[in-house]
Amino acid sequence: MAEKSAKSQKSGASRSDSLPPIMDRNLALELVRVTEAAALSASRWMGRGDKNNADGAAVEAMRKAFDQVAISGTVVIGEGEMDEAPMLYIGEKVGAGGPAMDIAVDPLEGTSITAKGGPNAMAVVALAERGGFLHAPDLYMDKIAVGGGLPEGVVDLDEKPEANLRNLARAKKKDIGDIVACILDRDRHKALIGAVRAAGARIMLIPDGDVSGVIAATQPESGVDIYLGSGGAPEGVLAAAALRCVGGQMQGRLMFENDEQKTRAREMGVKDPNHKFSILEMAKGDVVFAATGVTTGAMLKGVRWFSGGAYTHSMVMRSKSGTVRYVEGHHNFARKTWLTP
Ligand code: FBP
Repeated sequence: MAEKSAKSQKSGASRSDSLPPIMDRNLALELVRVTEAAALSASRWMGRGDKNNADGAAVEAMRKAFDQVAISGTVVIGEGEMDEAPMLYIGEKVGAGGPAMDIAVDPLEGTSITAKGGPNAMAVVALAERGGFLHAPDLYMDKIAVGGGLPEGVVDLDEKPEANLRNLARAKKKDIGDIVACILDRDRHKALIGAVRAAGARIMLIPDGDVSGVIAATQPESGVDIYLGSGGAPEGVLAAAALRCVGGQMQGRLMFENDEQKTRAREMGVKDPNHKFSILEMAKGDVVFAATGVTTGAMLKGVRWFSGGAYTHSMVMRSKSGTVRYVEGHHNFARKTWLTP
């Protein structure tokens, strides 16, 4: 039975059980507090060559921050299975109590980037009504994404890169040489990179962080027209949640290395291992996405420390309204002692 939102319980309003609960829009700002806490803690490890401690600091801070959020949350995209992760594991219950919500987290998207002090690391959270997110196992996912305002199906995961680039260039009224594809710099992408170059398009190779890579394809000022290639499936679901809010097209397909992974995926509800997931199949219903920069990148500024406090830069958006907000936080640790990383 669908759980009533705190708001409708208070007002006594009754909704049909078949309707999803109303997501309180103020939750969006609550989520920013969660990503801010993770980013602040992770940023203390920037450039210190220790990605595990950077990640651990983000996880711990995010877990603690969730205790203040008025939801009954279940982590569906998290730090791993219960026996692999001490906190924010898949199935963990978080929140102070309230409407039932599914949560997707990547407390530190870009652990290696943070360890090296490179660009584009961020803390990421998405929230959906119960059952809203694809329960994606921690495998690779082949991804393709473009921005909004283009004909539906202008690119397709099953097309060759040349055809996708040609169709995209035509739809954007550009030469193919004007098109920029964002791709993770990995050996496994050698053939893809070769095909994109042979087609005459240009490439932005990124060392890590394909959540921001996918979002970049939807932001005209980023200079990226398309995201191509494989990355983490959990990151794919988070990127899909972001695209539900900002618009754009994306498809993803899980990439299995063995039968054990297929069994695991089946247990998590994936019926067809070859299925090409649409954005809506990865993140449906009302979705909220929040991210805070750890290090400065194309979308967000990184955490900056000053005497007695720190500055954070976050984005938060909601699929229902399509509103994208950028939030600057000036944190005073003399007063906010609980936040001090
Ligand atoms: P981490 O922050 O967990 O290190 O992930 C960074 C990342 O680049 C993701 O953005 C991406 O989806 C994934 O790793 C790609 O995996 P791999 O490094 O194995 O190619």
